[in-house]
Formats: sequence, C-alpha cells, structure tokens
Amino acid sequence: MNVHNPSRLRLGVNIDHVATIRNARGGMHPDPARAAQIVAQAGGDGITVHLREDRRHIRDEDLFRVFEATGLPINLEMAATDEMLEIALRHAPHAACIVPERREERTTEGGLDAAGQHNRLAPIVARLTDAGIRVSLFIAPEPRQIEAAMKLGAPVVEFHTGEYAHAEGEQVQHELRRIVDMAALAAKNGIEPHAGHGLTYDNVQPIAAIPQLAELNIGHYLIGEAIFCGLDASVKKMRALMDEVR
Ligand code: PXP
Repeated sequence: MNVHNPSRLRLGVNIDHVATIRNARGGMHPDPARAAQIVAQAGGDGITVHLREDRRHIRDEDLFRVFEATGLPINLEMAATDEMLEIALRHAPHAACIVPERREERTTEGGLDAAGQHNRLAPIVARLTDAGIRVSLFIAPEPRQIEAAMKLGAPVVEFHTGEYAHAEGEQVQHELRRIVDMAALAAKNGIEPHAGHGLTYDNVQPIAAIPQLAELNIGHYLIGEAIFCGLDASVKKMRALMDEVR
C-alpha cells in the first residue's frame, strides 16, 4: 500500500461491518463494494476484509466485487486454515494477515500465537509468500512473537492494540509503551510493523505517532461513526488525526 512514501502512515479501512449491517436483512444493501469506493475517494490507502469461518460479515461472493471495486490494495484477514489458504491463493490479495479465529468470539480477541504454532503456520506463510502475497501476522506486542515472525519469514507484523484501547488510567501508558518498544524491535529486525484493533478518534494519535509503524487497520469505529457522519467524513477525520502526528 502506498509503499513509495515511507513516512506516510497508511490507513487500511476494514469494511467488514458494512457487511454485518447488510446481512442483518439479507439482500445487497449496504454494499461493501460501494463502501470500498468511498474509502478510496476519502483517502484510505487500503481495504481490509476478514472472511471468517462462519461468514458472519464478508462472504465469499463479496470478495471478487470488493477486490474489483477500487485500485486499492486489499488486505485479506484470514485464519490459518487450508480453506482460507485456498481462497487467498485464488484471489491473490496484496496482503494476507493471519489472525487467530474461534467461531464463538465476537471479534478477534487476542493475537496469534506465532511462537506456539510455528509448524502449522510455516507452510501457510510459505505458500502465500510464494504466490507473491505479503504476509502479516496479527500478534500481541511481545518479543517472543516478533522472534517467531522472524523465524517464519513474515515481512510484516500487525500489533493487536486491543489491550491498549481497553486500558484505563496508568495502564494506558504501560500498554502504549509495549507497542512503542515492539515497533522499534520489529523494525530493527527488518519486519514492517502495523497496528490495529479498537482504534478510535480518541486513542489513535499516540499510536499513529510511533515512527516505525507503517500502517493502521481500523474498522468498527469508522463504520460506526459513518452512521452519524457518513463514511467519507469518518475516514477523512481519521486520516487527518493520523496526519497531525506525523
Ligand atoms: N486488524 C485486525 C487483524 C483485525 O482482526 C481487526 C478486527 O477485525 C482490525 C484490525 C480492526 O479492528 P477494529 O474493527 O476494532 O477497528
């Protein structure tokens, strides 16, 4: 995504919850492909979609239309399963972000245990990489997970910012510090760090100011805000807040 300007922090917009609203009634409205077009016009740098095992939001038939809707790079979030690998290879997104997934969770509740699952992840990372898909691992900001990403040869890690986003009081600085330190560690070891989960207008700036971070992926809050002010305005405001601290 926008790889030519290293100082620009890219904004990937996760449009899953446009599909969540669409699915509440069936039919075609609101259309995630139309959302992707608005994101592109509003200054988003990429589109993120998570095809979950239970297809609770984005569905297989959405993928092609969303991929074709804009010229923006697509980041496909996927569980490390044979089914998702096959789908990723068929659609060849710009990037694939491997996430942990349990059917009963409401969202992706924790990072991937890249350290504990090396043998399961290694062939998946290799197949995606061989197909020219940039692999990212959605991990907690911990040294052992960065080491695991290095062993797996993943060029990108995305730090799960949920603990930072949900922290209160003094804990906020503690959680921020972990992400600051791990972004530096990842970059020092040649891994491009990204971040996402639970980011809002109120908490994005300390994260956006971390100089090594190259991309933020933000979904639920932007789609929620879009109900009140429109998707174009919510993306533009997030973009402006990110740009203010760079
Ligand atoms: N990044 C990853 C890997 C995710 O799984 C999610 C949630 O789908 C996000 C970013 C976006 O999180 P949120 O919807 O809370 O902004």
